[in-house]
Order: sequence, then C-alpha cells, then structure tokens
Amino acid sequence: MKRNESCAGELLNELKDGVSSVLLAQALMLPEEEFLAFYAAANETCLREKGKYVHLRAIIEFSNCCRRQCRYCGLRSENRRIERYRMRESEIAETAAEAAEAGYKTIILQSAEDPWYTADKLAEIVEAVTSLGTIVTLSVGERSPEEYRVWKEAGATRYLLKHETADPGLYRTLHPCGTLEERLDCLRELRGLGYEVGSGFMVGLPGQTPETIANDILLLGDLGCEMAGIGPFVPSPDTPLKDAAGGSAELTKRALALTRILYPGMALPATTALSVIAPEIRDTAFGAGADVVMKTVTPNRYRKLYTIYPAPGVGTTNIADDRRKVEEKIRSLDRIPL
Ligand code: 5AD
Repeated sequence: MKRNESCAGELLNELKDGVSSVLLAQALMLPEEEFLAFYAAANETCLREKGKYVHLRAIIEFSNCCRRQCRYCGLRSENRRIERYRMRESEIAETAAEAAEAGYKTIILQSAEDPWYTADKLAEIVEAVTSLGTIVTLSVGERSPEEYRVWKEAGATRYLLKHETADPGLYRTLHPCGTLEERLDCLRELRGLGYEVGSGFMVGLPGQTPETIANDILLLGDLGCEMAGIGPFVPSPDTPLKDAAGGSAELTKRALALTRILYPGMALPATTALSVIAPEIRDTAFGAGADVVMKTVTPNRYRKLYTIYPAPGVGTTNIADDRRKVEEKIRSLDRIPL
C-alpha cells in the first residue's frame, strides 16, 4: 500500500515537472486505490482555481437534422428511424427567454450539422438570444471560416466543437465525412477569430488505447482550449456501433481529473453522457475537477428526438423547476451553483 501510494505520488510529481503521453497513459491505468492521489490533486486544483462554484449552462438542441455520418451517433443522416425536427427562430428565442428568466447566464445553441440554418439565419438567432443579456455559445459543427466570423460579429463568444479522438486513423474510421485535420483547422480558425473554444473527446471508443486518451488530453492544451467536454462513448441503437462496448465511467472520470491537473483554469463539465451511464459517478465528478453542468432546456416534444445516444428520463416539468433541482443537487455536494 505504502509503496503504491508513493508510486502514484512520484507519477504525480513527474507529471507536474513535465507531462508526456507515456506518463498520462500510466496514470490512467493505475489500480483504483493508487489513482486516489490524482483525484485529490484534481479537487485541490479545482477548489484553488475555481472555488466551490459550479456553473450551470442551458443547452437548446434546436435541430437534429444532420448531414454527417459519424458511426457512433444516433443523429447520423443514414438513420431513417428517427423523426427529424428544426426549431423556428421564434421558438428558440422563447425557450432562451424562459431559460434566462430561470437564472441561466449562458445559453448554448447546439444542433446536429444542419446547413438549413444559413449563416444569416443563425446570426439572427444569435442576436435574438444575446439581446436577453445572456452569453451565447454555439455548437453547430464544422462550418466555413466566413460563417464563424458572421456569428462572432452577431455576438456569439464561445464555440464548442469536440475533436472526438486525437488518433487520425481512428478518427477516419469513425467519421466517413471528414478528417481530424479538417476538424483541427476549424478549431484553430475559431480561436483565431477570438472565440473562447471548447473541444473534447470520447472515452472508450472501439479501438482506443490509453495512449490515445493521453494524446486527447495533450491535444486540448496544444489547441489552447478554454473548455473541454470529456464523456464516455455510449453505444447508440440504429448506428453501426450499436453492439460495441461502451466507455467506462471510471476511466472518463480519470481523464477529467488529469485534465484538471494539467489545465487548472479550463472549464470542465460533468458531462451528460457520464450522468447517463453512471449518475452516481457523475456526481463525484465535481470532486474530481468538474466545474460546469450543462442542462438541456430543449422543449419536451423535441428533446426525445435529440437521440445522440439513449438517455433515460428525458421528460421535464419546466425549465425553472429543473434548474432548482440541479441547484439542490449541487448544494448537496457542497458546491455552489452559479
Ligand atoms: N456516445 C457518446 N457521445 C456521443 N456523441 C455522439 N455520439 C455519441 C455516443 N454514441 C457526442 C460527440 C459529439 C456530440 C454531439 O455528442 O462527442 O461531439
């Protein structure tokens, strides 16, 4: 036990001296009791940098129409089993107003990759939502530099676009419609335009190794991300990967903790995918480096159609009540909701 602890301690010190993918991969694979030192360090870092605050952010999933074919995603265009929807501008604005009224200060406008929302159309939506006094984060996939620029000028200040996996070969197998390099070009473009940029990746993808996850973590730093969403892969029915094994909640939480240790100031959500596979582990993510929760405020009739992966209990009463419940949960974990 003693020897194990000091072994983890040494690894932790080495990481602080100079990070490498070999060290990160070793840490990811430590026996459970040895990893506890990393959780403690992640929590300490989080409390030092962020205090006890957990930021609540609202997500409006405004379209599930997708032009891409990502092999893990239930919204892929080849999936004919789901009913597709697009929210109109007025509906998006009404939903955003209700979320702002309930206390949300940041609204994430997220959709599948849907070019039906032209640059101008989406710019109008961004303007309508920023006029409520909220920060607008966009998460609508790969678009042209010009479109990114138009939305920035319309008032969007943040952009989420996960790199999904840092392994170019694995990326290719999973994404018939694009390459890792194209994804990274978008992320660099967004950064150049002055967006605060969020990337992220999935843990437990078929064919992924601890070294891949280590490289995923390092890539977040290379990209200069302000945010990162790290979630487990959840097999989704009606996709080519429906029978693949899902990602482990524990490994996801480890990747989160290591990311917090390496990048103390980064915004790191306790992801929805994590809460779907292991609600109790998601709760403990706040003691392992997470400082953000994203809560869907998508109207009920659409929410059940935004099936990236199966999620139980997608129904809601209303946005304000839902928010109060999340706030209570966060307080019960000795954190302060913002
Ligand atoms: N499991 C977990 N996360 C998924 N995503 C898509 N499909 C899945 C899945 N099956 C995530 C990806 C993508 C975001 C829209 O959802 O990270 O960026």
